[in-house]
Amino acid sequence: MHSETTTDSATFWEKHYARFDPSWGTKPNVVLKDLLATFAPPPGTALDLGCGHGGDAIWLATQGWDVTAVDVSQTALDRVAEGAWAVSAAERVHPVRHDLAQTFPAGDFDLVCATYFHTPIAIPRTEVLRKAARAVAPNGLLIVVEHASVAPWSWQAGQDVSFPAPEEVLASLALDDLWRVERCDAPQRTATGPQGQKATVTENIIVLRRTAIAASN
Ligand SMILES: C[S@@+](CC[C@H](N)C(=O)[O-])C[C@H]1O[C@@H](n2cnc3c(N)ncnc32)[C@H](O)[C@@H]1O
Repeated sequence: MHSETTTDSATFWEKHYARFDPSWGTKPNVVLKDLLATFAPPPGTALDLGCGHGGDAIWLATQGWDVTAVDVSQTALDRVAEGAWAVSAAERVHPVRHDLAQTFPAGDFDLVCATYFHTPIAIPRTEVLRKAARAVAPNGLLIVVEHASVAPWSWQAGQDVSFPAPEEVLASLALDDLWRVERCDAPQRTATGPQGQKATVTENIIVLRRTAIAASN
């Protein structure tokens, strides 16, 4: 079900995307690509939360996934649809507008990902991530990739911001023993900003598998 309500999140992110270079965010995140290469889940259904311009969603579709791409910004979603058409993947990319603070897509998915699902608007982020976990099908993966440092090109640059450790994010999900932690760490890498500038960034990487049987420890 779509959220048709205009919220603070919608207002903020509409303004953001109206001003933003439409080519930014149209490539898949390198971290997500690496994780998919490592864990190699067979393509199935995927849910991309806070998909932005759809770099991840469209790339997943080109890899054979059937992707529901969710964002609060209709402008971003329209660009996702255009981008999917441009690579003949429109049939496998389904842009859907939700303010995830209010509504969440129905169904379960073999892969649920939230890459850099950050916003300056107050939202119940932990609750959204818990819903994300509940939306993972048995044997499916939940992938959360998030900033754990402020890049020089971030809207938070110059601010004194603290980030939770990946273990804290994991604990906040309050998962039962039907989950296996495949990865939970905070590596550094050299990232590239909107103007091509480079900087070392730290990111939380959390990869969880919903198993069909309870883990023994
Ligand atoms: C920092 S951007 C990341 C975009 C993309 N995942 C990427 O890696 O480039 C955060 C995204 O979350 C979306 N977003 C923020 N708050 C939201 C909300 N309450 N509901 C749905 N999407 C939201 C924004 O519109 C934006 O596209």
